[in-house]
Amino acid sequence: MQCTRKVTEDLYWVGANDKRLHLFESAHPIEGGVSYNSYLLLDEKTALFDTADWSVGKQFLENVEYVLDGRKLDYLVINHLEPDHAASIGEIVLRYPEVKVVSTEKAWLLMNQFQFRIDEEKFVEVKEGDSMSFGKHNIAFVAAPMVHWPEVMVSFDTTDGILFSADAFGSFKSLDGALFADEVDFKGEWIDEARRYYTNIVGKYGPQVMALLKKASTLDIKCICPLHGPVWRKDIPWIIDKYVHWATYTPEEKGIVIAYASMYGNTMSAAHILASKLHEKGFHNVKMYDVSETHVSFLISEAFKYSHLALFSVTYNLNVFPAMQNFIDDMKRLNLQKRVIGIVENGSWAPQALDLMAKSFDEMKQMTVLNEQVSVLSSVTKMTDRELDGLADSLIESMKQDY
Ligand code: FEO
Repeated sequence: MQCTRKVTEDLYWVGANDKRLHLFESAHPIEGGVSYNSYLLLDEKTALFDTADWSVGKQFLENVEYVLDGRKLDYLVINHLEPDHAASIGEIVLRYPEVKVVSTEKAWLLMNQFQFRIDEEKFVEVKEGDSMSFGKHNIAFVAAPMVHWPEVMVSFDTTDGILFSADAFGSFKSLDGALFADEVDFKGEWIDEARRYYTNIVGKYGPQVMALLKKASTLDIKCICPLHGPVWRKDIPWIIDKYVHWATYTPEEKGIVIAYASMYGNTMSAAHILASKLHEKGFHNVKMYDVSETHVSFLISEAFKYSHLALFSVTYNLNVFPAMQNFIDDMKRLNLQKRVIGIVENGSWAPQALDLMAKSFDEMKQMTVLNEQVSVLSSVTKMTDRELDGLADSLIESMKQDY
């Protein structure tokens, strides 16, 4: 049975939701599920924008068939070839043998690598600046390499001002019947998952996202149709402003993320002492996480949101505790920049974590490690308590800078 939504008079959402997948990309927990969005335009010609993951293929194919209502499919536009969107290409081509597949040269190469089996004569290569008319609707193609893969393009319907934005403006979470961002509590219930999606999936490619936003700023966009999450038809400047923050690695808020790696509770205790001191001194925008208990994708999302980090790690096998090292390495892999960091180590007989954490941040761009570093020997003493007090003062003082 079909499950579709109308986007505009001529455009339909024919995607599907998956609430059974536990790990997106086999990496990121998605308790709230995810949607795979595909859009079908009914004009003089019919055009499908992207497909869906094979896990939801049955629902997706029923949706396409229902909206086509006996018409043939003329075009399949592929904005992004990653299999969560492209896995059903082969089935679409089998079911609609007259369809022409429209995409970039790199997408054609990847289609062959993934063996999606498209005959070459069915493929129409497009590049930046090309456009196609499907009747009333004119579609312009805009290159968006590395947002999130090299073959990515976005498509812009110049007739209705609709941007098919590929992974950009996407989010984790199943749509659960809603389609538009103004039909859900996006700023309350969705924003954290949208940020977690962006920062972990596309966060590394900030300059490329900014290049796309620059191109988009020249377009009269009335609606954004991403490949995951809700469609934007209102409040578009608000979500673009979030993207500008994330893509330029600019914190959304002045605040401190305290993350600790503790084996027997002493390092956790030191982290709580710092948090208490911050509150006692009147600074309340403080978030605390145990890196062993919180998946790194959530930590990354918080690190992108807030201006400051306070990282506490035990020394483990003469290294930083693995979960903390993974968090730091992930920040580096995702190109996070422009943060102020306080570091605290704990060690009983050969503490190493302080120097190793500081060295990791030295290798990243515009990461400022505060001088007030604290080395705890097994448990907090009066002396290390005073040093934690100094670190709290230093963190608060550094808030006075502009971000
Ligand atoms: Fe949702 Fe990069 O694929």
